[in-house]
Amino acid sequence: MKHIEKSFHSVKVLNDIQFSLKAGTVHALMGENGAGKSTMMKILAGVYKSDGGEIYIDGKKVSIDSPKDSQELGIAMIHQELSSIPQMTVAENIYLGREPGSKLFMSYTEMYKQTAQLLESLHVHINPKVKIGTLKVADQQLIEIAKAISFNANIIIMDEPTSAITDKEVENLFHIIRALKEQGKGIIYISHKMDEIFQIADEITVLRDGAYINSWQAKDIDNSILIKNMVGRELNEVYPKIKVPIGETLLEVKDFSLKNKFENISFDVKKGEILGFAGLVGAGRTEIMNSLFGLTPPDTGEIRMDGKAITIKKPQDAIGYGIAYVTEDRKNEGLILQMGVGQNITLASMKELQKLLIKAKEERKVILEQIKTLRVKVNHPKQLASSLSGGNQQKVVLAKWMMKNPRLLILDEPTRGIDVGAKAEIYKLMCEYVDKGNSIIMISSEMPEVMGMSDRIIVLSNGQFGGELCREEFKQEKIMSCAVSKI
Ligand SMILES: Nc1ncnc2c1ncn2[C@@H]1O[C@H](COP(=O)(O)OP(=O)(O)OP(=O)(O)O)[C@@H](O)[C@H]1O
Ligand SMILES: [Mg+2]
Repeated sequence: MKHIEKSFHSVKVLNDIQFSLKAGTVHALMGENGAGKSTMMKILAGVYKSDGGEIYIDGKKVSIDSPKDSQELGIAMIHQELSSIPQMTVAENIYLGREPGSKLFMSYTEMYKQTAQLLESLHVHINPKVKIGTLKVADQQLIEIAKAISFNANIIIMDEPTSAITDKEVENLFHIIRALKEQGKGIIYISHKMDEIFQIADEITVLRDGAYINSWQAKDIDNSILIKNMVGRELNEVYPKIKVPIGETLLEVKDFSLKNKFENISFDVKKGEILGFAGLVGAGRTEIMNSLFGLTPPDTGEIRMDGKAITIKKPQDAIGYGIAYVTEDRKNEGLILQMGVGQNITLASMKELQKLLIKAKEERKVILEQIKTLRVKVNHPKQLASSLSGGNQQKVVLAKWMMKNPRLLILDEPTRGIDVGAKAEIYKLMCEYVDKGNSIIMISSEMPEVMGMSDRIIVLSNGQFGGELCREEFKQEKIMSCAVSKI
């Protein structure tokens, strides 16, 4: 790709970008949220038309005007946003668009058989006949990966393919990627997870603010050079954990059980504390928080706040007690994509804003403040949430809840898909937030994050209590052994 240009509504988001991919290699595309990575790849995938520049494949100039052109040139893309259709089965989603008459058309029996074979070859244990909408986010992501591979393309673009899957599945994916490399395929890999990049990439290209910065052989650079090039400044501390005095117990959960989900879970969280929840995906962490927040009340168990027993039967009860919950599935639950960024931010605190009779001007001030603190890359507060880059959408959801200033903030994978620079800012906000005497429960599957930010970690294993570690005891191996202790 040479001299690629792209603007949206006269805002330039790609300016003279170049990129080249060799057969049989993995080329990582890196950069902060909003740098232009997805846009660049969507041009290659025929989703967007570039305003200028050329694309060559095997040395021949090509023109890509539609997803179909791109497919026919042997390009497949796994999109950052899950694009499957929830009401259709796994197999139907994988073979979507290969209609009767096209050379890829096949009967339903054949389709299910082929899907089963495909999934088996990828070591993905999912029934081809279940509806996609009933699957966990992680499994939906695995299906997207399988789908891209099923096209047998020569160029495979993976836009944050591992944002929702477990370490074990990542390992499996890397296995698949290495096999694809051996077949001479080229892979473009986008991820914010630094350790992944150094494991899998042969080459790395960095974009910043829509501009091409540089390309390197992965072996020639290290983490800090890479980060510096991405954020355009030195980043001293990714995990700026400050020591906050830990106060009295804010909330206690006792003997929480929900059939087939989790059993006899007890824990407490203190004022000023960041309590981490670690464990493998599927260990029951999200389910426990769903119960605590009143989404799926537990079969048995008690909750105490400030030492007094309380009842939470629905989310409104939890909110009434000053609990807020930023869920894992932010795209569906956290954002109204067809509304402006500003409106999205003030949505949750509308009531408070009205109570205080804040005028439009002040509301705007508050919004701008939040946009600035979180460095949300947005041209105008009225810009639609749907047009923000993936990571910036997540920042908007966080901004929305932080404005509510709850006593206990439950965060489920708070920095998934967020770039290193912005991560550090979110961690800083978390520290400031508990410094005011509030508490945070953070579910995280990213080891460095959960160890970097927690005061204490509860490890769950297979729906059961797997162990508890205080900050001095944090060690990756120790957490892992607790995480598998009940399997
Ligand atoms: N359809 C659109 N309309 C308007 N602006 C858009 C649209 N798509 C992307 N943009 C803007 O283009 C810029 C680049 O976005 P892009 O999605 O390519 O970033 P990214 O590097 O993939 O970031 P992330 O790591 O957060 O996924 C952003 O400022 C974004 O708001
Ligand atoms: Mg993106």
